[in-house]
Amino acid sequence: MRAEDGVGVVTESRRGSAVGGVRAVAHPNIALVKYWGKRDEGLVLPRVDSLSLTLDIFPTTTSVCVVPGAVGDVVRLNGVPASGEVLGRVCGFVDLVRGLAGSSERVVVDSVNTVPTGAGLASSASGFAALALAAVGAFGLEVDARGLSRLARRGSGSASRSVFGGFVVWHAGSGSLVEADLGSFAEPVVAAEMDPALVVAVVDGGPKAVSSRVAMRRTVATSPLYGPWAASSAVDLVEMRAALVAGDLEVVGEIAERNALGMHATMLAARPGVRYMSPASLTVLDCVGQLRRDGVLAYATMDAGPNVKVLCRQVDAEQVAKSVREVVGDGAVHIARPGRGAYLLPEDDR
Ligand code: PMV
Repeated sequence: MRAEDGVGVVTESRRGSAVGGVRAVAHPNIALVKYWGKRDEGLVLPRVDSLSLTLDIFPTTTSVCVVPGAVGDVVRLNGVPASGEVLGRVCGFVDLVRGLAGSSERVVVDSVNTVPTGAGLASSASGFAALALAAVGAFGLEVDARGLSRLARRGSGSASRSVFGGFVVWHAGSGSLVEADLGSFAEPVVAAEMDPALVVAVVDGGPKAVSSRVAMRRTVATSPLYGPWAASSAVDLVEMRAALVAGDLEVVGEIAERNALGMHATMLAARPGVRYMSPASLTVLDCVGQLRRDGVLAYATMDAGPNVKVLCRQVDAEQVAKSVREVVGDGAVHIARPGRGAYLLPEDDR
């Protein structure tokens, strides 16, 4: 990323080296047309365009504080010092921002995440969107929304979409790697007034057995279904955008469900297969089918985990949540509405 790509340096006085640093908040997003498969792992360039809805629940709040003279970065997640792969991933991302700022100063990152981490509920999306916004502030970089989305993408692909609120499209980018890097950003999509809600059924809040990174790589390399799904996903995206413009939530739901089930089919057909769906997930899918037969607009989507998100109208959300609650036993059910994009907390709150 270069200055002409929407990145500049602001004055020293606006940097986050004071106690408390710079704090940012971001929310998870749930893809209705999925991102699955990378074209380039280093640059986190996806093979397909995707489209999501940013939620108003499970925010991540992250502060980044530059500590002049410190010898290493400190990363705390929910108050606990991070280590191993997580620490490496966060520090690698901070290195990227440091490089853009021409700085070698170390930081303290404090991230408080309210979403069950690693459960296919896009904790990395809110996490890296908040980190990107806080880190550019702490290092005194001035980045426009597109630049921020491209930067967040490097932490976790889906984080590029959490920079924005509501319905968001993430362009895969095309051409050479340099061109694709410039063209791979998210932006809000035009949508008519609708009253969407997502009922989130957490059937298992524990970490997933196979990371989305590994599962994507295996799917692209070995699944005979990947190519056909990617081709049909491009059609899904065009049709989904038209349905959003028309304000037709039923069609949005139909497309979301077929796209997600197709994505899971590609993984099931990988060698060896990756299965995120559990018996509890299938029970929720059955419940969603029954709701539809009962005349309620309800469509399911699932990510890299066993949890199920049900797209419905806000007026039906309580009823959908009640039906889902009856079948998930010990699982938790949350109602989400469209949420806002990533934002900085005012200095008074820091
Ligand atoms: O951003 P990642 O690497 O965690 O990938 C997330 C991929 C899915 O959640 C399964 C789909 C999507 O588009 O968010």
